[in-house]
Amino acid sequence: MAQYKVTVFTGSMAQAGTMNKLYIKLVGAEGESDHRWLANLKGGFYQGAADLFTVWCSAPLGRLLLVELDKKTLPLMPQDAWFCSKVTVETPEGETAHFPVYRWISDLEKHLFREGTAYRVFDEKHPLAIYCREMELKSRAQDYSWDVPGEGLPHAIKAESPLDLPCEVRFSFTKTTQFLFTASSALTELSLKGYANSKKLWKNIDDIGQVFTCNRTPISDYVQEHWREDEFFGYQFLNGVNPTIIRRCYQLPANFPVTDDMVRAFLHGASSLTDEIKKGNIYLVDYKQLDGVTANKINGKQQYLTAPLVLLQKTPNDKLIPVAIQLKQKPGEDNPIFFPTDSEYDWLMAKIFVRSADFSEHQLNAHLLRTHLLSEVFAVALLRNLPMVHPLYKLLIPHTRYTLQINFLARLLLISKDGVFTQFAASGGEGMFTILRRAVSSLTYSSLCLPEDIAARGLESIPNFYYRDDGLRLWDMIHRLVQGVIGHYYKSDFDVQQDSELQNWIKDIFIHGFLSRASSGVPQSLDTVKELVKIVTVAIFTGSAQHSAVNSGQFDYGGWMPNTPITLQLPPPSGKGQCNEALLFRTLPDVNTTVQGMSTMWLLSKQSTDFVRLGEYPEGHFSEDAPCRLIKEFQAELKAFSESVKARNSGLDVPYTYMDPELMENSVAI
Ligand code: FE2
Repeated sequence: MAQYKVTVFTGSMAQAGTMNKLYIKLVGAEGESDHRWLANLKGGFYQGAADLFTVWCSAPLGRLLLVELDKKTLPLMPQDAWFCSKVTVETPEGETAHFPVYRWISDLEKHLFREGTAYRVFDEKHPLAIYCREMELKSRAQDYSWDVPGEGLPHAIKAESPLDLPCEVRFSFTKTTQFLFTASSALTELSLKGYANSKKLWKNIDDIGQVFTCNRTPISDYVQEHWREDEFFGYQFLNGVNPTIIRRCYQLPANFPVTDDMVRAFLHGASSLTDEIKKGNIYLVDYKQLDGVTANKINGKQQYLTAPLVLLQKTPNDKLIPVAIQLKQKPGEDNPIFFPTDSEYDWLMAKIFVRSADFSEHQLNAHLLRTHLLSEVFAVALLRNLPMVHPLYKLLIPHTRYTLQINFLARLLLISKDGVFTQFAASGGEGMFTILRRAVSSLTYSSLCLPEDIAARGLESIPNFYYRDDGLRLWDMIHRLVQGVIGHYYKSDFDVQQDSELQNWIKDIFIHGFLSRASSGVPQSLDTVKELVKIVTVAIFTGSAQHSAVNSGQFDYGGWMPNTPITLQLPPPSGKGQCNEALLFRTLPDVNTTVQGMSTMWLLSKQSTDFVRLGEYPEGHFSEDAPCRLIKEFQAELKAFSESVKARNSGLDVPYTYMDPELMENSVAI
């Protein structure tokens, strides 16, 4: 007789246990055990428990291929869902086989789980392993279908409600409870409830300060104090919540006719704009994607959204200072170019229109499209095309945690017909779809690869650019992890070319994420190990570091409304000398729009307690030494990097924390 010692691990999340009867069958290359009841003296399988059993077989089973698990109900007992983390089996030969499961088993069907060694599709020789692989993908393709949410938009998971999503990808009980609690209580928590129905204008800045007394952050306090300053306005293009739009100016755009004469008097330490451009000291922010977008109506009132151009100078003391702002794309008499030497309110109003345009550009392009929607595409493509035993599934699945559900909720609560964004943002409604479609049609693969993006924007040497400094370090660490893991499994380009599952995965990304647009530069198939390493690095970086950079500072920089008005109620000034304090308050959002914006940014910046940080892999999908060692090295590097970020931040007036790995999630989860 051959003795197999089986340990069954139940998940540690709420409601993971079961009182149902569990059965197991061990399947090896040379035979299988009986379908065996796991008789548990404790009467059930409890949350977080590891239960040990012995399975006797008449002869050794050979190399263990899979375990079959199922459950039955006891008489008079209800069927309950069970979350099995993993099964380990000690063989008579003294080896331990690991079977990652990480699934809810809620039915009475038989479920097959492969032994943890990663196999590519062309490695499989055993007919049962091949069958198991095919069945898994068939069932996944049914569970995860593509939906087309609108013309010109990336495709998404098909689901009518969060309950349509398979249990594995839903929020945990903890996350659901906390998210719903924060969503429903944000107004109360911020002491804003009394303001939520007021359609009045703000009378003065102190009134806005009155609602900004609870749950501030050190950075939001700094913003409140410094939002009017040019230096802080410039700083935000590098290290605020949207560091993705500024670029070096090599030549002024034809529609932004700033001349040497206009700015000579106040350029810092320089005699001419032309010289400064040549020296690489002039930077441009151009919101041309917002040009002509239909602005929203809020509380029955027309709102305004402009497509500004901003010119900034890097000064001799390494500050980034705005030197010219034009609020609309088409130059003309009614579209003046504003300068820091204009009246206080003319210049402040110009900056406010820029900040408001930045809100729409940031939320829809940098945040929603370039992190949330793309991460969803990476997740659905993975789930549909790669079985659990595939090395890429093992590497990428932790980086998809909660993404499908948070995006479902974003569609439901933010951008649906009654969503907060639709109701209260200048670009809500029709404008949002115009901006998104434009952003999708100009999205490039290269811009998702941080080193290429920084080079293309000419930002390699601009000082005090912490998003770049931290981002490039993280890119490098992620790239090395991916290179190590992929390199372990794919020894040659031919290995990549013959992996049909991998080819289906990238094809899905090309078709459903980039809408089959070859000009995006995203690969349609993978020919080399290098290409595979790059796209996997993009997927992990986008869901972790990039999302954190554009997500986590939303309340810091947007909580103090005048710094980031989500809409504006009057058109931009058509001439100089028109602006004053009264006009400013008639232009800023009204009271209820302000507090809705504040509470939403609060919700979206708040961390859940079951947060999983970058590089933590609580589910052990890999069981081989090489990937486990690479993961440990990655974790050690992240820890050391986090310490260096903290040391750097301790000397800064405004710390840059959004790319500190300790504060960053593994996936788009909020
Ligand atoms: Fe987000």
